[in-house]
Amino acid sequence: MNSKLCLAAAISLASLLPLSAQAADSKGSVEVVHWWTSGGEKAAVDVLKAQVEQDGFTWKDGAVAGGGGATAMTVLKSRAVAGNPPGVAQIKGPDIQEWASTGLLDTDVLKDVAKEEKWDSLLDKKVADTVKYDGDYVAVPVNIHRINWLWINPEVFKKAGIEQPPKTLEEFYAAADKLKAAGFIPLAHGGQPWQDSTVFETVVFAVMGADGYKKAMVDLDEKTLTGPEMIKALTELKKVASYMDPDGKGQDWNLEAAKVINGKAGMQMMGDWAKSEWTLAKKVAGKDYQCVPFPGTGKGFLYNIDSLAVFKQKDKGTAEGQKDIARKVLGEDFQKTFSINKGSIPVRNDMLEHMDTFGFDSCAQTAAKDFLADAKSGGLQPSMAHNMATTLAVQGAFFDVITNYMNDPKAEPADAAKKLAAAIKSAQ
Ligand code: GAL
Repeated sequence: MNSKLCLAAAISLASLLPLSAQAADSKGSVEVVHWWTSGGEKAAVDVLKAQVEQDGFTWKDGAVAGGGGATAMTVLKSRAVAGNPPGVAQIKGPDIQEWASTGLLDTDVLKDVAKEEKWDSLLDKKVADTVKYDGDYVAVPVNIHRINWLWINPEVFKKAGIEQPPKTLEEFYAAADKLKAAGFIPLAHGGQPWQDSTVFETVVFAVMGADGYKKAMVDLDEKTLTGPEMIKALTELKKVASYMDPDGKGQDWNLEAAKVINGKAGMQMMGDWAKSEWTLAKKVAGKDYQCVPFPGTGKGFLYNIDSLAVFKQKDKGTAEGQKDIARKVLGEDFQKTFSINKGSIPVRNDMLEHMDTFGFDSCAQTAAKDFLADAKSGGLQPSMAHNMATTLAVQGAFFDVITNYMNDPKAEPADAAKKLAAAIKSAQ
């Protein structure tokens, strides 16, 4: 409620400015490339746009549709090749280092802001290291998403005679059977490669645990990739896939989320940006919908950190706008309002420790608690499907093999595991 009011106030303030002042770029203009284009995501990014415009900068929106960001990354590459990169772009994980090593990211522009705002002490080291290159910040971390969630419509569960959210894979299959028998789509799912791999990595996390996940998805250990645990995970993945929406081929994730929200489907496996759609539909966590860690993943946390990288610009005037965005992004007000809209949790440790005082719901409070605990225990693992664990080339190898495996009725788990290891090896 508060966040909406803030946003509305900022937008109406901006509209009071004379048109000439807005268009004349009084302080400078920054183009921001991102892929936050679903209704809920747009509401979240509009928070940043309003704050930056309120400071007198012009926000040029470079939104590129396509969940997971593959299309946005293709656009970004061609813009960079053409010598015309935007001032700011959503880039994540090891990809940040790759971009920085091309010399295209600006290693200076964030220096003063980071020092003044004490980023090193605000952020967990893992988070800070992700957005640094050779010790300098080249991106500002925006928020933290958790991947291994199961979203449930409790009304639908009730109609299908299911009493409790599933806690084990067996209970998950039993619930899915009941949903099917009662005429519902058991598992809403859009069959796009990044969504297939989001489900895959969650199942791997459930079957192999944090250590096994790390060996397979981060260390890319060949023995683990072809071993019995991976074969088991691929076997379970096929079973999970058998409950997926038959009309889900190529569907966007938010259209599938809508099926759960509207009571056509019972469950969805998706990172917590899914919550942005529930929030937009004015549904309340714990009442209208439930979020539980996917069965078998317990308190484990597959993380995905959104971040905005700064590109070197020919126009020197852009730097002030880049700094303003960075300052705003790590400010308490933005961290709260954006994440409440987006379904994520803040990146600031001081906020993660006191989530209830900022008005975060039960899903976000659980996420923050598990994130902090896992940061100490090692249960915190980077998402492969969301660019946090590997290079884009290796991620591409995962995507190809997993989507083919899920779509081929004759595919064998042991054979898929071998194909996976081989494809990864040649992508490295
Ligand atoms: C993720 C991104 C999220 C969300 C999601 C769906 O990769 O980190 O912020 O946008 O894709 O597009």
